[in-house]
Amino acid sequence: MNDQPTIEPTLLSLLDLARQAAQHAYAPYSGFRVGAALRLTSGEIVCGTNVENVSYGLTICAERSALVRAVSQFGPEIRIEAFAVANLNAAPSPPCGACRQVLSEFIQPDASVIFPGEDGPRTMLFRKLFPLAFAMKAK
Ligand code: THU
Repeated sequence: MNDQPTIEPTLLSLLDLARQAAQHAYAPYSGFRVGAALRLTSGEIVCGTNVENVSYGLTICAERSALVRAVSQFGPEIRIEAFAVANLNAAPSPPCGACRQVLSEFIQPDASVIFPGEDGPRTMLFRKLFPLAFAMKAK
């Protein structure tokens, strides 16, 4: 079941941009084509896609691809207020754990995240999706 029955139109258009970004996926090894789109508090939208590598382990996910692009383009002060993930494989695909950890440094805890769920798009607040991020508090 989806957490929210009605999805904001702005989130649905972000999802649409994620779907479009997935068209650019480089996924010759898995065939799993993922796209991500994020909206910054400044209103700017940045997209990314997964870029695989023959070494497999060097593959970058669509989510991190969008994030590094956003930081590169707009600098380290960016804040993400909404995040969308889509794939062209009609499969559920919440952001992987590695991407959640990386996102946690730049995304607002109350940002909405929309991703393909079991029965269509599913939305969750980032803080619910990733409640216990690693943080370095060395003593
Ligand atoms: N992938 C993503 O782009 N995002 C995720 O959150 C998980 C997986 C990509 C990596 C790889 O290219 C393909 O999906 C199969 O794992």
